[in-house]
Amino acid sequence: MGMVITIDGPAASGKSSVSRELARRLGWNWVSTGAFYRGLAFAAIQLGIDLDDVKALAELTHNPVWKVSMQDARTTVYFQNQDVTDLIAHEDVGNFASKVSHYPEVRKALLDAQRNCSNGPQGLVAEGRDCGTVVFPKAEAKVYLTANSEHRAARRAAELGLDQGDMVKAQQQRDLQDSTRKVAPMAVPDDALIVDTTELNLDQVVDKVVDYVKGKI
Ligand code: DC
Repeated sequence: MGMVITIDGPAASGKSSVSRELARRLGWNWVSTGAFYRGLAFAAIQLGIDLDDVKALAELTHNPVWKVSMQDARTTVYFQNQDVTDLIAHEDVGNFASKVSHYPEVRKALLDAQRNCSNGPQGLVAEGRDCGTVVFPKAEAKVYLTANSEHRAARRAAELGLDQGDMVKAQQQRDLQDSTRKVAPMAVPDDALIVDTTELNLDQVVDKVVDYVKGKI
């Protein structure tokens, strides 16, 4: 396993932008582990699988009808050989992803594929909710990003062209689901650097993270 830096945090805290830029500066790979849950939820919906049918969802984790591919500047998801990465970015898919992610059988089935992303010769920046606690507990450096909920909703609403009020509610519900589930809840890893991104721009956040990880890798 190569070197790993984990970046966890709630919805729209800036994880993807920060991880992508950090990976670019280090010349490392970057993976969004949320793409696995989003891809699974998307495939389930397309195939008419009930999101409460744990057995069918666990089986679908290994079905080649969908796959996740780690690329330089994005984590691409394919369904029936079509690139659906833009489609799974929608907040409703995020909410479905949050639902399927609370099943231990589903999380366990996706774990190896997530861990395998660190198998290459390059280091890996892994982003999600449980990357520092469960997926890569021995990561060289761990970061937890946070931001106030209005700011996060405004950020995501602007990206997706949606109403900010609806987005606050949707994200609060998703964060509650993700932080209160029994298995691998979203949590701050013990030894993580916590960065509140509310008042910072992307470069300021990445600078802080780079300063921190430099001492660790
Ligand atoms: O990071 P994201 O918004 O793409 O994640 C979508 C959902 O996937 C998130 O609400 C919960 C789930 N998820 C998870 O349970 N564990 C992860 N490591 C990443 C995402």
